[in-house]
Amino acid sequence: MRYSADAQDLLAWYDRHARVMPWRVSPTDRAAGIRPDPYAVWLSEVMLQQTTVAAVRDYFRRFTARWPGIRDLAAAEDAEVMGEWAGLGYYARARNLLKCARVVANDLNGRFPDTYDGLLALPGIGPYTAAAISSIAFDRAETVLDGNVERVMARLHDIHDPLPGSKPLLKEKAAALTPSVRPGDYAQAVMDLGATICTPKSPACGICPWRDPCAARAEGTAADLPRKMPKKAKPTRYGIVYLGRRADGAWLMERRPDKGLLGGMLGWPGTDWGEHVADTPPCPANWQDLGTEVRHTFTHFHLILTVKVADLPLGQSAGNGFFVEKTDFRPSDLPTVMRKAFDLARTA
Ligand code: ADE
Repeated sequence: MRYSADAQDLLAWYDRHARVMPWRVSPTDRAAGIRPDPYAVWLSEVMLQQTTVAAVRDYFRRFTARWPGIRDLAAAEDAEVMGEWAGLGYYARARNLLKCARVVANDLNGRFPDTYDGLLALPGIGPYTAAAISSIAFDRAETVLDGNVERVMARLHDIHDPLPGSKPLLKEKAAALTPSVRPGDYAQAVMDLGATICTPKSPACGICPWRDPCAARAEGTAADLPRKMPKKAKPTRYGIVYLGRRADGAWLMERRPDKGLLGGMLGWPGTDWGEHVADTPPCPANWQDLGTEVRHTFTHFHLILTVKVADLPLGQSAGNGFFVEKTDFRPSDLPTVMRKAFDLARTA
C-alpha cells in the first residue's frame, strides 16, 4: 500500500477544506460510501478542460437538468447540445461529448469503462480526462496532471526546468505521491490545493498543508515557479460577418462545418479569416458597415471582424444558409464571437 505522510497530510487538509462543486461527492459522503456518478464526473471533467470552475458551474447545472443521464444526452439533437455549450468555447469538446455519449449509451450499455485504458479509448477523453475520471469516479490510483498539479509539483520539488519540457518530470513526481488509499479524494485535493493555496501569484504558503516538505518555500522561489517557455506572439486575422435580417425579423444564418474552429456551431455567414479579406456577402443587398469591429482572441490568434448588416426582402433565397425565425432565434445559442457581432448589431 502506498500512502506517504505527505499524502495523508494533504487528505487531512482536504477533509476540512474541500471545495463544494455541483458534480463533487464531498469527502464526508465518500467516507460514508456514497459513490460519484461517472456521468457527472465525465461531463464536468470535459467541461473543465481549459476552462475555470467558475465558468463551468452553470453550464454543468443546465446540462444535467436537461439531460440527467448518459442515455438522455446520447438521444439529444446535435444542435441542442451545441446550443447549450455555446459560450463555453473549444467546441470540439461538445462534438466529442456527443460522440462519446452515443458510444457509451449504444455500445457499452450505458456504462462508462472503469479503467484508464478503457476511458482513453473513448472520443474526447485524453490522458488528463482518463486519469481524472478513473481516479475520481472509480478510485483508481491514476495520476492527474493539470495546470494546478504541475504548479504544485514544480514548487514542492523546486523544479526550475521550464514548461512544457518539464511535464514528464512533473508527472513522475506527481505519480510518486499518488496514494493507493483514497486516490479519488487525493486527485481532487491536489487540484484544490493548486486552485486555492498554491495559486500562481502570491501563494498562501503560511497555511499550506505542504509547507514543511515544500522545497520552493524553503528556497523562497515558490512565486517564481513553474517557469514557462515564452509563448509565441499571436498573429491577428481579419474577417467580415454579414448579419442579414429579413423583413419578418428572421435572421440569415449558417451552421459551421464540423471540422475546424467553432465547428458545428451556429453563426453568421462570413468570409474566411486571414490577413486580407475580400468582401463576399452571402447575397446581394445594401450591406452597411457598422463601423465598430468585433475583437476576439482564440488560442492561436486574435480576430478582428468587420460587421455588416442589411435588410433582406421576404423572398430572399438563403443560399448556403437558412433563415432562423424571429421566435426561434436565441442569442445564447451562439458562440461568443458570433454573439459579440450580434450584440453590436443590436445596439447599433
Ligand atoms: N479542475 C478540473 N477538475 C477538477 C476537479 N475535479 N476538482 C477541482 N478542480 C478541478
